[in-house]
Amino acid sequence: LCLRHMKNNIYLTGFSGTGKTTTGQELCKILNRKFVDLDSVIELRCGKKIPDIFTEDGESYFRILETECLTEISHVTTQVISTGGGLPVLQENRTIMFSTGIVVCLQTTPAIIFERLKAQVRKEGEDSQRPMLGSEKQFRKIEELIEIRSNVYAECDMVIDTGNKTQQMVALEIVKGLGL
Ligand code: S3P
Repeated sequence: LCLRHMKNNIYLTGFSGTGKTTTGQELCKILNRKFVDLDSVIELRCGKKIPDIFTEDGESYFRILETECLTEISHVTTQVISTGGGLPVLQENRTIMFSTGIVVCLQTTPAIIFERLKAQVRKEGEDSQRPMLGSEKQFRKIEELIEIRSNVYAECDMVIDTGNKTQQMVALEIVKGLGL
């Protein structure tokens, strides 16, 4: 009983542009759970946007904040939590997620990610820029980072392809896959 209780968060991870936030919100509607977007928690805590944290404080500082916020959030149960795409790279973060929930990885092709991220910047402006991808040769960078992180993403409890699926379809697939 105790174990079931402790492991009942659902973590959504995977590369930028795979739909973690929107799928997470959809999942919460279906399961009537609380949604937590870890990048937003970090932004609230710092009072600045992620790209500004990267330029003003650096990536290593961002990674420290990421682990701190994950640790705090992981103490609460029965949530749906979406993480930044680089979070599972650190073993420490994976250990926290695996011991407090089920980890679902969303994936799709670099081409689809590239298009989605471009559309997001057009719609939401510079605040939605991903500092890990720089501004030039973004497509190459997406391919490279996905390749580097592929082992970590593959280690997740469930890996779901999101290409050509609506967020609702992906959310329903997760619900079914988890037997909820
Ligand atoms: C990052 C992904 C971003 C954000 C930060 C770093 C990464 O989140 O955490 O810019 O290292 O891939 P999304 O996956 O929501 O884009």
